[in-house]
Amino acid sequence: MTLYSQYTEGASALTSFLKSQELIFNVSDLIIYKSKPYAFLKKISPWYWFTRPMTKFMINFFHNKSLIGVEIGVEYGLNAKTMLAMLSLKKLYLIDPYRDDDASYQEARRYLGSYKDKITFIRKTSEAALDDIPGILDFVYIDGSHEYEAVKTDIELFYPKVKPGGVIGGHDFWAKEIGVCKAVLEFAEKNNIQLHGKQTDWWIVKQ
Ligand SMILES: C[S@@+](CC[C@H](N)C(=O)[O-])C[C@H]1O[C@@H](n2cnc3c(N)ncnc32)[C@H](O)[C@@H]1O
Repeated sequence: MTLYSQYTEGASALTSFLKSQELIFNVSDLIIYKSKPYAFLKKISPWYWFTRPMTKFMINFFHNKSLIGVEIGVEYGLNAKTMLAMLSLKKLYLIDPYRDDDASYQEARRYLGSYKDKITFIRKTSEAALDDIPGILDFVYIDGSHEYEAVKTDIELFYPKVKPGGVIGGHDFWAKEIGVCKAVLEFAEKNNIQLHGKQTDWWIVKQ
């Protein structure tokens, strides 16, 4: 199943337009777009609408600096595409094992195809992928397994890969993801680090 197939039935002219622009992310995003006239859509950078708070923070924090980053947990590449569109990226490593899910992997490759020179897929778990990433990183966005132990491991393994002045954070820092919250809060508390949070994103600026 492709990302867009669920929107195919009964597609309106607006839906077709959004599809042609690759602007559809999920149902709630579609509802936002449906409430806006076409002219307005054309005036804004569409990606800003879907850009997660940590990425918005990085836009201001890094300005136009050329960045090397990682996303753990890529799925269809939806968040990856906003990062590629909104940040000045030299390289984005995309880590996801896509266990028994070749269709999602193919969809992500297709969806991010226009950025193929800037991305490297690492089809492994985050733990196994660590050694495939050379050098140090400007940022890491964690959105893989949401289990407590997995998030804890991702933070502990990838924090040392981030350069001082870099950013590490992730998604689903909210009441329904207790494992994510627990791992993030424990790490920040244990290391006496200032934690930033907005909507469902969390992030830390490494000192
Ligand atoms: C919530 S989805 C990621 C969504 C994506 N970050 C976005 O916002 O567009 C979670 C993904 O994490 C992947 N995943 C699960 N365990 C993982 C692990 N140990 N390491 C890396 N990725 C993992 C899954 O295959 C799945 O595609």
